[in-house]
Amino acid sequence: MTAALHPDTLAVHGGRSELSALGVHALPIDLSTTNPLPDIERGGDSYEAMATGGRPPADGSMVYARLWNPTVARFEEALAELEHTEATVAFSSGMAAMTAVILAHGPAAGKHHVVAVRPLYGGTDHLLGSGLLGVDTTYCAPHEVASALRADTGLIVVETPANPTLEIADIAAIVAQAGEVPVVVDNTFATPVLQNPIDLGAAMSLHSATKYLGGHGDVIAGAVACDERTAEALRRGRAVTGGLLHPLGAYLLHRGLTTLPVRMRAQQESARAIVQWLIDRPEVAEVFYPGLDGDPEGILRRQMRGTGAMIALRMRGGYAAASAVTSATTLFTHAVSLGGVDSLIQHPAALTHRPVPAEARPDADVLRLSIGLEHVDDLIADLAEGFAAIARGVQGEDQSFGSATVPVTSRSVGMRSRL
Ligand SMILES: Cc1ncc(COP(=O)(O)O)c(C=O)c1O
Repeated sequence: MTAALHPDTLAVHGGRSELSALGVHALPIDLSTTNPLPDIERGGDSYEAMATGGRPPADGSMVYARLWNPTVARFEEALAELEHTEATVAFSSGMAAMTAVILAHGPAAGKHHVVAVRPLYGGTDHLLGSGLLGVDTTYCAPHEVASALRADTGLIVVETPANPTLEIADIAAIVAQAGEVPVVVDNTFATPVLQNPIDLGAAMSLHSATKYLGGHGDVIAGAVACDERTAEALRRGRAVTGGLLHPLGAYLLHRGLTTLPVRMRAQQESARAIVQWLIDRPEVAEVFYPGLDGDPEGILRRQMRGTGAMIALRMRGGYAAASAVTSATTLFTHAVSLGGVDSLIQHPAALTHRPVPAEARPDADVLRLSIGLEHVDDLIADLAEGFAAIARGVQGEDQSFGSATVPVTSRSVGMRSRL
């Protein structure tokens, strides 16, 4: 399909080019785990092609669903179009996707070092530091990437906007520091609706597809958009390690893509209104949202087409206040995850970022909001209810409880101003 189409159109039509020839209109779900082989030779050739990361030959077979599945492949094609690249490789989760990226660019490529720009999603930070995948990781700030590189650096990992406090890293500037080393950008928060890292020189755009791509909180999945050569290495890893996406999940993700641009715009509009409301609230010490500093270096203008629907906030009453709010909201479900049609609230230090070392963990007074598709007035009223519970909950409570149980750090990059 031509890249000149608008993203809204690609989101609806991507990955569907063969449906007319198949005589169907809705996306078919192929649940076959195994596939007929035309003969031993062509079956063997097909196996060889896919086990080494290629696609099924036209006269061959898909052989086995760990190697290839057409429902998954259609979703992959659609996301590749939205990400302005040749291919996508889908995985059973965002963490499986990150694991495949690290393995393909680390040990499998003879490299044993990764540079990771903090902050990152807690699971990614933890995976990189765990030593489980045979790589050393140097964590750094965006401007420190060049000095963190080593002869055996195989990969640079960056997340922008970052989970949970929405720091923005300049993708092109990181790519410029990287030289020949490939950069993977976790694009989960922005989605291809707001940002295309590959247009800015990144080698890979990674998603926890569990979030906005699916959009309905009913699929765990991951995806990496990249060129065909990188896709081959990732498919090889997927075939060997088995971190593949189930076709029912791929179907739901592909259907979810059709509404992604509309959902992102609507959720972002509410998020911006909620940010304006939050910055005037006495209970809130700091609001974290892209662009609140006026974008002095022009990074947002260069690399994003919007500011998204994730917000973080620092509560004036510390951990006790944060805890009171999460227990009192009703429309905002107190739950981890993000990017769905319904709004969520959660405490990063205790949950999504719990495995991060204390010096890099979000502060104990920080909450993260994922804004959904409910009416914005209802969401604001729900947050107001949550804030009203602070006064009730804090009375007589030991204020030091939170910082005693959840270690805090002093890092803070949020801003408090008007959008
Ligand atoms: C930014 C980001 N990247 C990656 C992941 C991991 O994705 P998954 O939970 O699908 O494995 C998450 C999960 O919250 C995330 O927020």
